[in-house]
Parts: sequence; structure tokens; C-alpha cells
Amino acid sequence: MRLILALLLALLALPLHAEPLLRSPDGRTEVRITGDGDGRLYWQASRDGRPLISASPLGFILADAPKLERKLAITGEARASRDSRWDQPWGERAQVRDHHNELVLHIAETSLLHRRFDLVIRLFDDGIALRYAFPEQPNLKTLRIVAELTEFRIADATAGRAWWIPALEWNREEYLYRATGITEVGLAQTPMTMQTARGTWLSIHEAALIDYAGMNLQPAGNGIFRAALTPSASGPPVVVAAPFATPWRVVMIGDTAPALANSSLILNLNEPNRLGDVSWVRPCKYAGIWWSMHLDTESWSTGPKHGATTANAVKMIDWAAANGLCGLLIEGWNKGWDGDWFANGWDFRFDQPTPDFDMAAVAAHARKRRIGLIGHHETSGNLANYEAQLDAGMAFYARHGVTMVKTGYVADAGGLQVAGSQPGIDMNGQPRTLTYEWHEGQASARHHIRVLEAAAARRIAVNAHEPIKDTGLRRTFPNWVSREGARGMEFNAWGNPDNGPEHEATLAFTRLLAGPMDYTPGIVSLQGRGQKIPSTLAKQLALYVTIYSPLQMVADLPENYAKAPRAAMDFIRAVPVDWQESITLAGEPGSHVVTVRQRRGGDDWWLGAAGGKAAVATELPLDFLTPGTRYRLTLWRDGSTAETNPQDLAVETRIVTSTDRLALRLAGGGGGAAARFEPVK
Ligand code: NOJ
Ligand code: CA
Repeated sequence: MRLILALLLALLALPLHAEPLLRSPDGRTEVRITGDGDGRLYWQASRDGRPLISASPLGFILADAPKLERKLAITGEARASRDSRWDQPWGERAQVRDHHNELVLHIAETSLLHRRFDLVIRLFDDGIALRYAFPEQPNLKTLRIVAELTEFRIADATAGRAWWIPALEWNREEYLYRATGITEVGLAQTPMTMQTARGTWLSIHEAALIDYAGMNLQPAGNGIFRAALTPSASGPPVVVAAPFATPWRVVMIGDTAPALANSSLILNLNEPNRLGDVSWVRPCKYAGIWWSMHLDTESWSTGPKHGATTANAVKMIDWAAANGLCGLLIEGWNKGWDGDWFANGWDFRFDQPTPDFDMAAVAAHARKRRIGLIGHHETSGNLANYEAQLDAGMAFYARHGVTMVKTGYVADAGGLQVAGSQPGIDMNGQPRTLTYEWHEGQASARHHIRVLEAAAARRIAVNAHEPIKDTGLRRTFPNWVSREGARGMEFNAWGNPDNGPEHEATLAFTRLLAGPMDYTPGIVSLQGRGQKIPSTLAKQLALYVTIYSPLQMVADLPENYAKAPRAAMDFIRAVPVDWQESITLAGEPGSHVVTVRQRRGGDDWWLGAAGGKAAVATELPLDFLTPGTRYRLTLWRDGSTAETNPQDLAVETRIVTSTDRLALRLAGGGGGAAARFEPVK
């Protein structure tokens, strides 16, 4: 019976659906599925009639079953075209358009196992997405995925350029971006951004990573990249029961680098909000008991340098309130920081303040001054210890009115400690039942969802540091407000090396394509531990606009803000954190980025321009402004001596309209500019 079915399928399938084809709404991008004589399937893409991705394999290697690759037949298809809009509760734009064409191919093995899956392909004007969806079925109940065979074969790779960070190295996502030829890329994380020799901009990434291993890109020569799943210590990288769908494999496409930055593709590929009313998630500018620790003038640990004392918290709450901020982050408030906290993750207690920190008194003062406290759960990557206390920790904060928690997973990549059944030893040689996992692995993906759910149950938002990569889950879980996931400002505190002048202009076209980043800008002193920060003062202001996050830190010390030019503080106090619309106007990785954003629910526009190593002169049309309206432009720019004296900030005002052009000059060595456009009533 089975044999007959298989034969029938084989006969039916191939001639009917030889090479299914899907086009993007604008008709420029095409994806075609092809096969070979052995029943292997490939996907390929073209743009404007020219090859973009050459025939790239699909399939899986499984731990306990034959690989899913050969004898595949297309048994049917379903097509859809959709054009809808959805609202973001907070975000870089209020409304997102989701315009795509979809092709679902039903695929079955012609062999006796007759395993089945759907290949779901969506084509947008700004990119390609595909995923595998497995229905419930007798011969594939649980998938133990050893490897994905999905590849991305860049057609026009020779002489193309790429911006990437290495994968599976000890410092997680915190590497300086490398700019190399596409054919010189090593094992890379996503998003990885490229410009092909013909000039098309691409970024390979993934969307909706919920219960799966994160995807890295393994080069196989000549611009061929394999989806390399992040390994697991407890078996195959992915173990998951059907029915389930993999994360989307995504190629973002743009004619320019800014086109990538303006895409909402990753968000569109995620499921809608699962949390219902999230009006309790509030975008926020916040101060912190934080930078001082990175400068080493205060400490997380108790003792004479302890930062998180009741008195210091009260003082910082007053400072945040006086400067119109909405929140205060307090790190080092709980038990576990004394000694070698990197090794002693087991010591952290998430409901026990240190003796010199009176949580109730601090919370009462914050309430009085209308400052939201931002809690801190550093875990040292010890998921076992954290998960055992997750509910207690969130409940403790909820009791004290905390509505946002910064989580932290400081542990070497591959060093997350996950509770399990396997005997092992912890970092102090203690016998424990645990395994060591990667920050981008399936165990980590699951953990982050658990934290989001525990937090959401108490109306708490989450900002994860040393996180798993962003794949757009803020749409589904709008309490996932921000994360780190790249080198942040802290590297400029430590130096050795610092982030360099071009880092933020690179982030705009790489890491930030994935989603918001808690970069922690605003270091107006331009001063790390000993060394200078590679930035002008104007650029520190610009970062509030070029880097999108609904949570932006005003990260420097109050005494440094007191010494800064008043104009700088005016900008920091006034710049919004929630936007109606965002447009990246110009730039390229490492060189510069210019972004404008309109305040959510308002009509003023803000501009940020972050430069790189070399000076940049550029002229921008102001056609994003409403025609016929006069705007008062205030420009905070590099002064004429900014290259040698980065504190040199010049401020200008004048009237402009949408037909004007704005000339900007960003100083070399990390210059910048920021602007506000207010309608003149
Ligand atoms: C690293 C985080 O990025 C930083 O913000 C935090 O202060 C430390 N870990 C301690 O948790
Ligand atoms: Ca970090």
C-alpha cells in the first residue's frame, strides 16, 4: 500500500510542479525551486532578471533517522498575496506595512518513510524568506536535527564586500565588525551584510527564533554559505516535536545600504503580539548606577566603593527626575556580587538586596519622584540558578513597582550553565547536574522566552545583555524592549581596544538590522578609564537617533553632565525615544549613517548622523518634512576644531522647509551631527 502511494506520488509530483516560481510584489525579485534527478530540492533567486542566489540546497541531517534530502517530491502548492498594515505599540514606526507574496510547497518523500514538510516562501520587495514547517506525522514525531542543509549561494560574490562578526568565539556577539570580501568571510554570525559586485545590498539573517538553535553562516568557498546551527552540549543542536516550523531564513535586499536599514522585513515575519494590552511597556530614557562601575570608581560588590547604596540610589533618582528622565537602572543591588561573580553565578539571589540597599525605601522615593526603577538580574550565564529563582525574582521586583528588568548573561560563549540530568562540574569544581551551552543555542532560545513570560505575567519589560540574537520577537512579545548583542559603549570605558570611530556607523547596517540595541550613549565626557573615547560630543548626541532603542541610557556620570555644554544637555533632555516614522537617508557601513525620525504622536523630526574614521561631507534633501510647513532647525554639529578637540560643539538655528537641503560635515575620528526640526506655528 505504502509502496503504491509512494510510486503514485512520484509520478504525480514532478511533471506537474516542475519548477515553482514566486515573484515579489514589485516583480523585481523571483525565487524558483528546482530539483535534480535524485529528488533533491534547491532554491534560487534573481533580481531584475539577473542571478542573485544560485541553486542552493535544502534539507536536514537527523540524528536518529535518514537524512531528509533525497527523493523529495512536490505534491501540491498554495499561494497567497497579502497587503496589510499593523500597529506597533512602541517602535521605530507606528505602523508597519506587510506586503508579500507567499508560496507554500507541500513536499513529501517518495521513499517508504514518506516524511512530509512544507516549504513556505515569502517574497517582499525588500527580501526573501523561507522556512520549513513540519506537520504531525507518524514517521517524524520528534526531529533531532544535527544539521540544516540550507545554503545561501551568493551569485555575484567575487569582488563583493561583507561586514560580519565571527561565530562560536568566546566573546559572544561582542566583536568589532570585519570588512572583507564576500569570499573571505569566516564562520559568521547573522545578520551578515554584503554588497555584491553589481552593487546590490544583502543581509542574511533569521526571524522568529523561538525554539530552535541560532543560525550561523559557514562559508564553503566562492560566496557559498551553509546554515550552521549553533551546537548543543546535550545532543543534536535542535530537538523539537512536530508540528513545528523552523525560524525564517531571510535575505534582506536593497539597492542601497539605507534600504536595508529601512526594512521591516524581520518584524513582518514574526507572529503578532501574544501579550494583549501592553500599555504598561513604556519607552524610556534612563540614568544608571552603572558607568561608574565600568570606570572602576564604584563597584558592584559591597564595601567602600559600593555603588548601589540606598543613599546613592536616592541621589540618582533625584538627578534623573531633575533631568526629565523616566528611569534609573541600579546594578549591584543584590547578593552575589562579592568575590568572583563571573565564576560564582550560583551565589546570585534575585530577591535579596545587600544590607546597605533598602529596596522599599528606594522604591518609595522613586515613586515619589515619578522615576521608574530598572531592575538588574545579572546571572553570570547560570541559567540553572536564575530559572530556579525566576518567579521569586520577578515577584520581588513587581512588589516594589519595578516595571523593567535588565538581564545579563556574562559568561564565555559556550559557557551558559543549564540545569539538566547530566552530571558535570561547575566553574568552581562543584559537582552539579548541568550542561554548558551557547548563548545562541536552543536551550538559550527557550530560556529567553521563559524569562519574557515570567516578566510579562507581572507587567515587567526585559532588556537582555549578552543575549541571544534579535530575530524580531519584540513583535510577538512586546515586553522584550531592547538588548545588547554587540559591543556597546562599555568597551569605550575599558578600552583595549575601544570600539573605534566607525563602529556605530557599521552597527546601523549590521547588528541594528536585527532590532533595537541598548548601546548606552551620551558619554559627554568622551572619557573612558584612562583613554579618550573615539567620538566627538556631537556624535554622542547623534547616537540617540541613529541607534534605535525604546530604552536609551543617559549613561555618563551626573558630574560630567554638569560640566558639559548646556546645549548638549538640552538635546539629551528633549530627544524622544518613541517614533512615528524613521528613515535612514544616507550612509554605508563604517563610513557614516544619517537617520531621521519623527516623534510618536508629534510633528517634530529629529536627525542623527554618525561618522567614521574619515571626515564626511554630505548634503541631504529635507523632503521628509511636510511640504508647505516652516520648521525651526536646531543643529548640534562638530565645531571647526572638533577633529583635534572633540568637545567642540557648534549649535545653529534657522528656518527650513521641505524643499531645502541640509549640508553636514562630520569630523574625522568619529564625528557626528544631531538636529531637531520643529514646525513653526
Ligand atoms: C555586562 C553588561 O553589558 C553591563 O551593562 C553590565 O553592567 C555588566 N555586564 C554587569 O552585569
Ligand atoms: Ca556586555
